[in-house]
Amino acid sequence: MTANHSSGEKILAGQTAIVTGSSSGIGAGIARELGAAGANVVVNYAGNREGADGVVRRITEGGGRAIAVQADVSREEDVAVMFRKSISTYGSVDILVSNAGVQKDAPFVDMTIDQWNRVIGINLTGAFLCAREAAREFIRRGPVPERSSALGKIIFISSVHEIIPWAGHVNYAASKGGVMLFMKSIAQELGPQKIRVNSIAPGAIKTPINRSAWETSEAEADLLTLIPYKRVGEPVDIARTAVWLASDASDYVHGTSLVVDGGMTLYPGFAAGG
Ligand code: BGC
Repeated sequence: MTANHSSGEKILAGQTAIVTGSSSGIGAGIARELGAAGANVVVNYAGNREGADGVVRRITEGGGRAIAVQADVSREEDVAVMFRKSISTYGSVDILVSNAGVQKDAPFVDMTIDQWNRVIGINLTGAFLCAREAAREFIRRGPVPERSSALGKIIFISSVHEIIPWAGHVNYAASKGGVMLFMKSIAQELGPQKIRVNSIAPGAIKTPINRSAWETSEAEADLLTLIPYKRVGEPVDIARTAVWLASDASDYVHGTSLVVDGGMTLYPGFAAGG
């Protein structure tokens, strides 16, 4: 890992962030960077308690504050309980990073209703339930200008597949396309209340969700044909972007989807064709 911009400066000091699905992968990376930037971090997990505890340990060993909270984001009551625990521990919530996401891949004609519902339930309904709870809490608490210019910040972790169609993954692409217009619509609705809403759309990042796409050198070489910058991303690439989007440094960035993909959305097939 290269130099860490947030190691010295605690630009999120005093703020509390919930990061859904942060027991592994991109979410774990985001939780750690937010903790390093001084935020109190709620490390949400659905089933991987050990992973979540490990992330909490890394944050607290580095001098930060964090707790692990179990919740299945597709369940309304779980989300309400997670917010209640976060607020009773840290007083309020300033930042939501809605990151929890799954893939249940299948050829379209074989896709089951369970595969469809699970992906839409976590990736899209989960984003709705968490964002609604966050917005309610920001409004209840009111402004704290010495902590943050915005009343609160919501960041969705979407995907390049909110733009790029994806055969064999139509439930996933549909969920991310949904997140894109959901994000923009609530940004339009909540902007006047100074709630800042954005997405990050990662490309291929080395995490458990896409292990088969990078774990052998053949697979990685194939994947790199889709990435003009010729590097598979790391969770920290997304985590640093999330810290910036959560901070006042990006206070005029609202309703946008920031693509962080090494150029995957540049249609690399056209570099020598078309
Ligand atoms: C998916 C990964 C995939 C990447 C680029 C992500 O949203 O979860 O499996 O490697 O997009 O295609």
